[in-house]
Amino acid sequence: MQVWFLLLVACFAIAALDVAQTQDQNPAGFVNIDCGAPNNYYDNSLGLYYYTDAGFIDSGESRQISTVFINENIMQQAKNLRVFYNGTRNCYTIRPDKGKGNKYVIRASFYYGNHDGTNQGPTFDLYIGTDYWDTMDWSRFVYYEIIHVPSTDDIQVCLVNTGKGYPFISTLELRSLDSSVYQVDSTATLFYNWRYDIGGSGTYRYPQDVYDRIWSRKSNNDWVTFNTTATTSLSSNNDAYKAPAEVLQTAQRVTDVNSSIFLYWNTSSNYKWGIYFHFAELEALPSGQRREFTLSVNGNLTKTVSLEYLKPVTVASALVSGSKINFSISATKQSGKYPPILNAVEFYTIIEHLNTPTSIDDITAIKGVKKVYNINKESWQGDPCVPMNLTWEGLGCSYDNPPRITTLNLSSSKLNGDLSASFSNLSALVSLDLSGNELTGQLPQWLAEMANLKTLNLSGNNFTGSIPESLQKKVNDQSLQLSVVNNPNLCVEDSCKPNKKKNSVIVPVIAAVAGSVAVLLLVLVIIWRIKSRRGKGATKGALKSKNRPFTYREVLKITDNLKTIIGEGGFGKVYIGKLENDNKVAVKMLSRTSQQGYKEFLAEAQLLMIVHHRNLVSLVGYCDDTENMALIYEFMEYGNLRQHLSDQRTSSHILTWNERLRIAVDAAQGLDYLHNGCKPPIVHRDLKTPNILLNENMQAKIADFGLSKAFAAENDSYISTRPAGTPGYLDPEFQTSGNLNKKSDVYSFGVILLELITGYPPVIRSANGHMHILQWVKTFIERGDVQSIVDPRLQGNFNINSAWKLVEIAMSCLPPTAIQRPDISHVLAELKECWEMETASNRNQRLEDGRRGSMESFDMNSTEASFGSAPSAR
Ligand SMILES: *[C@@H]1O[C@H](CO)[C@@H](O)[C@H](O)[C@H]1NC(C)=O
Ligand SMILES: *[C@@H]1O[C@H](CO)[C@@H](O)[C@H](O)[C@H]1NC(C)=O
Ligand SMILES: *[C@@H]1O[C@H](CO)[C@@H](O)[C@H](O)[C@H]1NC(C)=O
Ligand SMILES: *[C@@H]1O[C@H](CO)[C@@H](O)[C@H](O)[C@H]1NC(C)=O
Ligand SMILES: *[C@@H]1O[C@H](CO)[C@@H](O)[C@H](O)[C@H]1NC(C)=O
Ligand SMILES: *[C@@H]1O[C@H](CO)[C@@H](O)[C@H](O)[C@H]1NC(C)=O
Ligand SMILES: *[C@@H]1O[C@H](CO)[C@@H](O)[C@H](O)[C@H]1NC(C)=O
Ligand SMILES: *[C@@H]1O[C@H](CO)[C@@H](O)[C@H](O)[C@H]1NC(C)=O
Ligand SMILES: *[C@@H]1O[C@H](CO)[C@@H](O)[C@H](O)[C@H]1NC(C)=O
Ligand SMILES: *[C@@H]1O[C@H](CO)[C@@H](O)[C@H](O)[C@H]1NC(C)=O
Repeated sequence: MQVWFLLLVACFAIAALDVAQTQDQNPAGFVNIDCGAPNNYYDNSLGLYYYTDAGFIDSGESRQISTVFINENIMQQAKNLRVFYNGTRNCYTIRPDKGKGNKYVIRASFYYGNHDGTNQGPTFDLYIGTDYWDTMDWSRFVYYEIIHVPSTDDIQVCLVNTGKGYPFISTLELRSLDSSVYQVDSTATLFYNWRYDIGGSGTYRYPQDVYDRIWSRKSNNDWVTFNTTATTSLSSNNDAYKAPAEVLQTAQRVTDVNSSIFLYWNTSSNYKWGIYFHFAELEALPSGQRREFTLSVNGNLTKTVSLEYLKPVTVASALVSGSKINFSISATKQSGKYPPILNAVEFYTIIEHLNTPTSIDDITAIKGVKKVYNINKESWQGDPCVPMNLTWEGLGCSYDNPPRITTLNLSSSKLNGDLSASFSNLSALVSLDLSGNELTGQLPQWLAEMANLKTLNLSGNNFTGSIPESLQKKVNDQSLQLSVVNNPNLCVEDSCKPNKKKNSVIVPVIAAVAGSVAVLLLVLVIIWRIKSRRGKGATKGALKSKNRPFTYREVLKITDNLKTIIGEGGFGKVYIGKLENDNKVAVKMLSRTSQQGYKEFLAEAQLLMIVHHRNLVSLVGYCDDTENMALIYEFMEYGNLRQHLSDQRTSSHILTWNERLRIAVDAAQGLDYLHNGCKPPIVHRDLKTPNILLNENMQAKIADFGLSKAFAAENDSYISTRPAGTPGYLDPEFQTSGNLNKKSDVYSFGVILLELITGYPPVIRSANGHMHILQWVKTFIERGDVQSIVDPRLQGNFNINSAWKLVEIAMSCLPPTAIQRPDISHVLAELKECWEMETASNRNQRLEDGRRGSMESFDMNSTEASFGSAPSAR
């Protein structure tokens, strides 16, 4: 990925200065920053002004390279540098005149020059905005270049300390490009690898190159070098790419027309390459004759090029990938005796942008806050939320698309003055802690208008006046938790008499505590109700279906006389069995000693015989022997989901995030079928992780329709029957209504999603008592902390965006009132989106890994593309 750019070589580029050059101004679209330089200056060798980095960055320290390296050959830009001893991420912010959506060349240069006397250059990461750019791991002068279309007006170039020395930077340059050149837009960035002037004898950049690209000479000894002196025609005829006339002026060709030019290199990844070939005919061929050739990639013809005298042509290859890339240029029959040539060539790799930056409104607002209070925290640089491990100190974010700032903690940060209205523009803010500052003035009305704000801590300041009515109202209806203690001059009494007391406290009822008590009560009531049902006999229903009835003798044969128990459910024992065709089955026997599950047993048989879906456990048959009833199901190799999530799981495999997502989608599909695919619709009524079974492919299927019941009539959305269900999964409305409907299943499904996310059972038992999983999760969501929710056994191996999304979906299923819950079809659609997000992010991860691989294999000696020639079949 890197090209060594030795100073001596750079200095060959010195060319006669255009005297007409305006001496106080750079060409339009140029930004030249000499990092760490003490003053602005004009560089005679380049004919460009360089400016100090003041105003582009507010951290780091200025340093000079060791005097040993300072001589007349060194470029002025390499002499000074800025080094960052503090903070993990330090960012330069450039705002080019043309702003976002335009195309720029951005180049960052690094010359270590033993500035710290340790002779030990650092290694650190370079970022463009929120995306990883490269790893700077060289201790000589080296530059990294990209072609970038920013999606915001500010372009940020960040140096990230990775614990291997202090990051530094020498020069930062930006040049605005014509929008028609280089095939890239704001969804991706082109990373420069090599740029060669074939057959050339120097190094060229500005002023020869109007875009200040750096061209290095490259020749193949087997090829013939030739040139023209007609540079004026070359530059007047030039195409939009504007390769300099000095570069195009020289070229190489193979020795005879029957040979091809080859360019080939190895990559260690499926990284995509884009190659830009520059051609110009340098020989005046007899009239009627012209040089023509084909460009092929790995033997596949991609383009035919026909040259005109002194007319430059740029050919952009299609993106190619593969472990070996092999371009060939071969003359066509029309080319007569003129072999193919090459004047210049550029090699880029393309990377799609991986990270979505924080919402621009939030960035603007938080920057406003930073400015108003002059906040000087080390981490407050670059994007506030992205990448996640560089989130600004005191901030919590939701990683939606785009990420939002949800919590802000600026306690004890020496803020003074009034409350800035910039806070009010952080519209996704859930929690704001400004305690222990020196804030003054009245509490503004807009505090009550922050729609998502649930917690506001203003204690320990010096606010005056009284609490606005609208704010007090939110406190009273418990939608806001407000703390204003230790504001000696703030009046908190209704009458609002001047209050001389030191402590004024508003203690809101904490909804969370009340909520968890309610859930516990509910659970207890339900346990009691279910227990009280036990013993009531169920009448024997008629299961009339004659479809594949098994006799009891057959059942005994299948199960080898009820030999192996694999489970015990509400109805009785489950045995493993084998049909004549060798298919494994699970045989569920109705317990003879207790009759209470009999009706459910029949209901399940009846339902399963008509319901078939790949995410529902299918019924193979049943036995309707008077005393011995049995249901025969397909065997689910991997048991139930609860076993896989619990700590006592039998297998050592921990479900991956991906598998959990797929299970969620599978189960939702099964439930969607029951609710919306069956006529009449079927309410499961006892959905829970022990009822979700997994086959050998980890495909999830819903089982146990024992409590399900077909609706009597399609438009009757309520059925009123005896209580049912399992504590922890039960719709809280059930307590009051006694009804179980589709939305009750959605609630249970939400609980299942939380189990998948956390690995915990629905009722979490701890030393401090029992807590419903929903309450537990809520406390973290309010803090914007999804990391702590996700099953720690995943060890962070999940995509944070998809984690947030899944939590969000789960929460959408769990409002206390049924009417607020979505239909399962909606939940399914959201889950599928989440699943796609996860698989897309895995693809990106692979790309990213590939990129690292390719860099390693491209160091100094083995990195460069090789050039060769070989006979071609013409
Ligand atoms: C930066 O770090 C140095 C030493 O590592 C310390 O002396 C200095 O105070 C720090 N500067 C800031 C602004 O924190
Ligand atoms: C062009 O070719 C001539 C003759 O081969 C050589 O003397 C001259 O140096 C070349 N010029 C350039 C710019 O390469
Ligand atoms: C190139 O190949 C053609 C046909 O194969 C042959 O006629 C011609 O002489 C060859 N030219 C050279 C320069 O070898
Ligand atoms: C590419 O790899 C092959 C072996 O797979 C090796 O022979 C060849 O020299 C390599 N080419 C380059 C340009 O490194
Ligand atoms: C490049 O491909 C051509 C076929 O198009 C093949 O003859 C040649 O050997 C290949 N070169 C390398 C280095 O793989
Ligand atoms: C070349 O063409 C073959 C057959 O059409 C195709 O399978 C292969 O992917 C192509 N290779 C490239 C590099 O485009
Ligand atoms: C942040 O996380 C990325 C990816 O997990 C890792 O490569 C990088 O080193 C981390 N950066 C810091 C400063 O910890
Ligand atoms: C804010 O940070 C302070 C100090 O780190 C901490 O004591 C306080 O609990 C935090 N506030 C919130 C709401 O997390
Ligand atoms: C808040 O945002 C609005 C709309 O973007 C803007 O007009 C207003 O100036 C902002 N307020 C502050 C204090 O930045
Ligand atoms: C608080 O504000 C009042 C006036 O608004 C001022 O007289 C007092 O000194 C302030 N107290 C502190 C501790 O700043």
